[in-house]
Amino acid sequence: MTQKPVLTFFNNKGGVGKTSLIYHLAWMYAGLRKRVVIADLDPQANLTAAFLDEDSIEKIWEEQAEGSTIYQCVKPLTGVGDIAEPKLQNVGTDLFLLPGDVNLSSYEDTLSSEWPNSMADNNLYRPMRILSSFWQIMQKAAENVQADIILVDIGPNLGAINRSVLIATDYVIIPLGADLFSLQGLKNLGPTLRSWKSLWQKRLDNWTENQEANNYPVIQFPKGKMEVIGYLCQQHSVRLDRPVKAYEKWVNRIPAVYREAVLNETTNTTMKQKDDPYCLATVRHYRSLIPMAQENRKPIFRLTSADGAIGSHANAVLDAKNDFHELANKIASKIKIEL
Ligand SMILES: Nc1ncnc2c1ncn2[C@@H]1O[C@H](COP(=O)(O)OP(=O)(O)O)[C@@H](O)[C@H]1O
Ligand SMILES: [Mg+2]
Repeated sequence: MTQKPVLTFFNNKGGVGKTSLIYHLAWMYAGLRKRVVIADLDPQANLTAAFLDEDSIEKIWEEQAEGSTIYQCVKPLTGVGDIAEPKLQNVGTDLFLLPGDVNLSSYEDTLSSEWPNSMADNNLYRPMRILSSFWQIMQKAAENVQADIILVDIGPNLGAINRSVLIATDYVIIPLGADLFSLQGLKNLGPTLRSWKSLWQKRLDNWTENQEANNYPVIQFPKGKMEVIGYLCQQHSVRLDRPVKAYEKWVNRIPAVYREAVLNETTNTTMKQKDDPYCLATVRHYRSLIPMAQENRKPIFRLTSADGAIGSHANAVLDAKNDFHELANKIASKIKIEL
């Protein structure tokens, strides 16, 4: 199985535009002729709701067909079964969604209890299979549709589900708002990622050293690369009643905190956010284009005059197209995908 790059957007502060970003990048990559798997691993399933209407989601959740959501893929593991084959929703040309599921939160306990078991001296197969289940499912999904890239959305916390997603992740992007909460979140994120990386490596070593590994010669596990390629700054998270100065104050503290917390460097940098090479983009406030896009169930850069994007809106649509194209290019070059 050739492995496909997994790109996860992670921040332990919600409401910073993470889900909207992934939605738009997915459409942008598909438009650039890349085949994309989008995995909704946030039990809130907001990304799924962006792609599918409520009736379709209800149908999927009611039917509970094997492999129809991320939870329906891992559910057999909570009994005596194995991972179910993922069934993807073709939500656009070259766009394949692994739907989210509110029931996924019940998998948190299984993942928590298998974590210590995976460091035992024996019976390692099942814990290792469970802890790497998200990776196995996403890689299988990508293989089935011959995807070039896997984009992942998760909830804003440092729990066991997110730990398993990060184990499955090659590249991490951190969306940030310009506020105290985003900055505090960033301070926890760097050390947490380093700790997860090293704890997963210990498990891989334990597996290799254990005799049991010989019984499963073909099984593969994720490497737990978790390379943070940069951050994004969301302008829209600025409260409109707050002066520009407050935005500048928080945003310009990001470069130093990013270096200390994420890169683990000691720094006295006075670099501003706009000069920071780790800042992949400043995401604009798209204002009324956002509800217009949600209503028409398409990305803002595909809005037309028939959707209501006329006059200054039409110009904003073009700006958005350029913004996301540039961001998609930047990310692709960092993760070595040719466009
Ligand atoms: N660039 C943007 N401009 C304006 N509003 C945005 C933008 N990105 C996201 N939003 C809005 O902000 C809210 C939170 O966005 P969302 O993507 O759900 O964030 P998260 O996934 O981080 O919780 C949503 O109502 C969304 O429509
Ligand atoms: Mg979200």
